Amino acid sequence: MIALTTAYLWYTTRATGIVAMLLFTAVVALGTLVANRVGGTFIGRFEVNEVHRSLSMVAVVFLVIHIITTVLDSFVSTGLISAVIPMTSAYKRVPVALGAVAFDLILAVWISSLLKLRIKNQTWRFIHWFSWLAFAISLVHGYLTGTDVHKGIGMLVVIGCAGVVALAAVWRFLGRPTRAAGRTALSPLATPPIPPRSRMNESFPKTPPRPPSSRRPR
Ligand code: HEM
Repeated sequence: MIALTTAYLWYTTRATGIVAMLLFTAVVALGTLVANRVGGTFIGRFEVNEVHRSLSMVAVVFLVIHIITTVLDSFVSTGLISAVIPMTSAYKRVPVALGAVAFDLILAVWISSLLKLRIKNQTWRFIHWFSWLAFAISLVHGYLTGTDVHKGIGMLVVIGCAGVVALAAVWRFLGRPTRAAGRTALSPLATPPIPPRSRMNESFPKTPPRPPSSRRPR
């Protein structure tokens, strides 16, 4: 097998790891806004949900690049299998295993969201709770595996991310809306649209009133 190793692969692994962490922080924070039903006249709940969903896709792209550069870099003996199956990496077995667990949980959250219309809302909600666990585990992974997170800006970024998500978790709990307020799934795909005819029936009379000139005298 050809050995492929360059400093650029390593730099990319480090950079994408930190960017993925920043993006997942934003995704979790926005998800908390959605769950606690923030949104009104300035920015609607639907828009907040759309930013949350779109940003999660960008975060997954950075995560995939982070994994690909790790696997390609033959300086670290971590294969593609180690990205999904924990404890299979010869390089930093436990710290990389934590990364794999976080990745698996994120995949579960992502796939369940793609299948949202086909699964029960309770099931989707249960799987979505894994995102908190995935974030916490990836934080430990970054700390145990990383190079930049131990000093300077890298360390500040990771502490900042942990702080934002911890605050979001507290606020999610304290500011949670009542169940009676309805489901949190705000995507228009999640609820079937009201047929226009039945909406019209609610506000309009069945036959429009005729103008006086057209009425025949009795
Ligand atoms: C949710 C999933 C993950 C997140 C958020 C994440 C994030 C991070 C972060 C923040 C770092 C520290 C970067 C640094 O300080 O240099 C890091 C390092 C690292 N990650 Fe991940 N990671 C994840 C999953 C994975 C997986 C599945 C693998 C295995 C293929 C992996 C392999 C590595 C390696 C090898 C390093 C060390 C880079 C270095 O030498 O500095 N990560 N990751």
